[in-house]
Amino acid sequence: MSSRATIDHPEAAVKVQNDPDILGAAARLAGEDMCSIADLSSSEVRAILKLGHDVKRNPREYRHALDAKQMVLMFEKASLRTRLSFETGINTMGGNAIFVDQTNSPLGERESIADVARNVERWVDVIVLRTYAHDTITEMAANSRVPVINALSDFEHPCQALADFMTLEEHRGSLPGTNFTYVGDGNNVCHSLMLTGAQLGVNVTVATPRGYSPDIEIVTLARDIAQANNCELRLLQDPQAAAEGADAIYTDVCVSMGFEHESTKRAPIFRPFQVNEVLMQKASPNAVFMHCLPARRNAEVTDAVLDGPQSIVFDQAENRMHAQKALLLLLLGGLANVQAFSC
Ligand code: CP
Ligand code: NVA
Repeated sequence: MSSRATIDHPEAAVKVQNDPDILGAAARLAGEDMCSIADLSSSEVRAILKLGHDVKRNPREYRHALDAKQMVLMFEKASLRTRLSFETGINTMGGNAIFVDQTNSPLGERESIADVARNVERWVDVIVLRTYAHDTITEMAANSRVPVINALSDFEHPCQALADFMTLEEHRGSLPGTNFTYVGDGNNVCHSLMLTGAQLGVNVTVATPRGYSPDIEIVTLARDIAQANNCELRLLQDPQAAAEGADAIYTDVCVSMGFEHESTKRAPIFRPFQVNEVLMQKASPNAVFMHCLPARRNAEVTDAVLDGPQSIVFDQAENRMHAQKALLLLLLGGLANVQAFSC
């Protein structure tokens, strides 16, 4: 049996029922969508992390918080972590999940996305979508009276980034001033990490090959958020320089779902961006290695790093569930059913 290495920092413990970030988020986010990290303020991102830590510590306190709530997951792409962490998350709070496999029938093909929304909202309390086009998610949100959550689109993976920074906070105790380096494709995961890091006061450095840098609109938005939170976002093309002194090094696959036809072209371009022991040695001695998973072993990351002592990838996977439980509690008004919040 493998061991779980999560360090529980007392600094992360907060009296959640009195916390202004959580109380503010509970009031503002009930009934809202979460299509992008940009839908959340810095205070709301902090609230999700604080609540995520509490849900993880005290799961029994929340076991009836979403009694009888129905969640539908409609996924156009494969998933292990996202599907199971949402399903287990709602099941352990008294709710129920229904999975609709859309891998062979993209949303909007059989009937319009608006018509799907107008049907589904009559049966369920929240819609969780994994899509190719980001617009599919925003269109569903625009037409649905129940909250819509982005469970990965071509543009963002916000639930991943929330769990990732919750995990980093667990390991470091505190996030502001942390030096976080992303190496690889400037893709959906990278976008959400840049936005979330900026909201949490984290200095984010991104190193991508030329032609694979993150979207300029997200970069501009993340830089504005970073400025407000006294941190910075740097874009480089040199992975060695980006790794220098980092507290965390993160990578993702260089061939995301939907880009499989570019595999042969991308392999040599991304080879110098592999996270291996040499690159990890450039980072701070206590640096952690992070990956959203699934990993392509010995492509974007070597076995030695992925399975090594600095790797926290399975803590990230576990925290998908806790962070998403916190998000669901806020979007579905579940804290009203939790004793600590209702008295
Ligand atoms: N990290 C992540 O989203 O994993 P899945 O694709 O398995 O859901
Ligand atoms: N960037 C990857 C993330 C998978 C969780 C993809 O979109 O396939």
